[in-house]
Amino acid sequence: MALRLLVNTGLLAIPIGGSVGTLLGIDAHRSANGQPPLFTSDGNSNTGSGSGDSTGGGSGGSGSTTNNGVTNTQYCQNSYGISPPSDGQLYTLNPNQWGVTDTTSGALCMNVTTFNNETYATTQSAPGFSVTWQFDPGPSTQPVHAFPNIMVDDVLPIELDKMTKVDLDLHWTYGVGNTVASSTDSSSLTADDLQTNVAIDMFFDSDKNNAGNSALAKYEVMVWFADFGASAQPIGLSAGAVTTKTLNGTTFELYTGTNAAKQNVLSWKATETTEEFTGDIYPLITDLYALTGDIYPSNSDYMGIFQFGTEAFSSDKNVTFAVPKLSIDIQK
Ligand SMILES: *[C@@H]1O[C@H](CO)[C@@H](O)[C@H](O)[C@H]1NC(C)=O
Ligand SMILES: *[C@@H]1O[C@H](CO)[C@@H](O)[C@H](O)[C@H]1NC(C)=O
Ligand SMILES: *[C@@H]1O[C@H](CO)[C@@H](O)[C@H](O)[C@H]1NC(C)=O
Ligand SMILES: *[C@@H]1O[C@H](CO)[C@@H](O)[C@H](O)[C@H]1NC(C)=O
Repeated sequence: MALRLLVNTGLLAIPIGGSVGTLLGIDAHRSANGQPPLFTSDGNSNTGSGSGDSTGGGSGGSGSTTNNGVTNTQYCQNSYGISPPSDGQLYTLNPNQWGVTDTTSGALCMNVTTFNNETYATTQSAPGFSVTWQFDPGPSTQPVHAFPNIMVDDVLPIELDKMTKVDLDLHWTYGVGNTVASSTDSSSLTADDLQTNVAIDMFFDSDKNNAGNSALAKYEVMVWFADFGASAQPIGLSAGAVTTKTLNGTTFELYTGTNAAKQNVLSWKATETTEEFTGDIYPLITDLYALTGDIYPSNSDYMGIFQFGTEAFSSDKNVTFAVPKLSIDIQK
């Protein structure tokens, strides 16, 4: 009830200190890159977040404009949980600039487009968002500056074999400049020396609570739709693909390995840049059970975290990542 009242003020924005989900989002990306987690089990410590100056209070956003019931709000904070009210599936968005320090050269802002009627295209549709950023290359020990992402909020954790489908309807673009590109032109991004990926990041564990904690979960399962530049590579790429799966015309190759936190990282990478995908990605989970070894999850494990975003390493000029269409439907 209290949450629904806040809805009328626009966005329900949660400062980082108040949102475990936000903390997990940051840790998810540290672990994706073999970084030690910033936050330990209960997320009660937020030291070590560099300049993670979450500036809570108020709406948190700046430059908010409303036209015909559609509101665009810009968030340039390092970390900020943005949980727009919705009639359907709930999502939390976060600029998540976990690798930014006082010496970082560059900037990132996330724009979130919400409907004042809280009713999106389908009940599973997410608010649209875009991220405009530029960072100079960081040190090799810390090449990632941010993982701006959107996270599924209210259906997890769920036992893997209790799901029947994970329907995804996705359209993203990347372009050079401060505006949304209508499609992704890889040659201009390469000329800009863009180093990034576009990926789903999931966490699994046999323990329901650990599955929801990116630092403790035994398995990290990723689905990469693109990678630009040599910096962003799935763990285990050099060892070669373990297996492949084709879903509705897109072929994904599986790469496996462990990160510094000793988590098993299982990455399905599309063989080519895939900016539009419609289909059920549940087979990318169930196929893992058929593989032999302790590095693979079993059907009784839980999924605790599901995020989609882009890992910002570096770029010569500003680039804009946009997600005009995203729907995630985890069916039981
Ligand atoms: C909600 O608002 C959006 C944006 O103005 C509009 O496109 C959509 O039709 C509205 N939905 C309903 C059910 O009114
Ligand atoms: C580049 O993007 C950042 C972050 O969105 C923004 O603050 C900055 O003004 C942009 N720079 C230029 C030259 O447009
Ligand atoms: C993001 O929002 C700011 C502030 O409203 C606006 O100036 C900018 O053009 C927006 N960027 C994109 C890519 O829509
Ligand atoms: C396969 O993708 C097309 C768009 O490329 C979409 O229209 C169709 O619904 C998808 N099929 C399934 C089974 O999801």
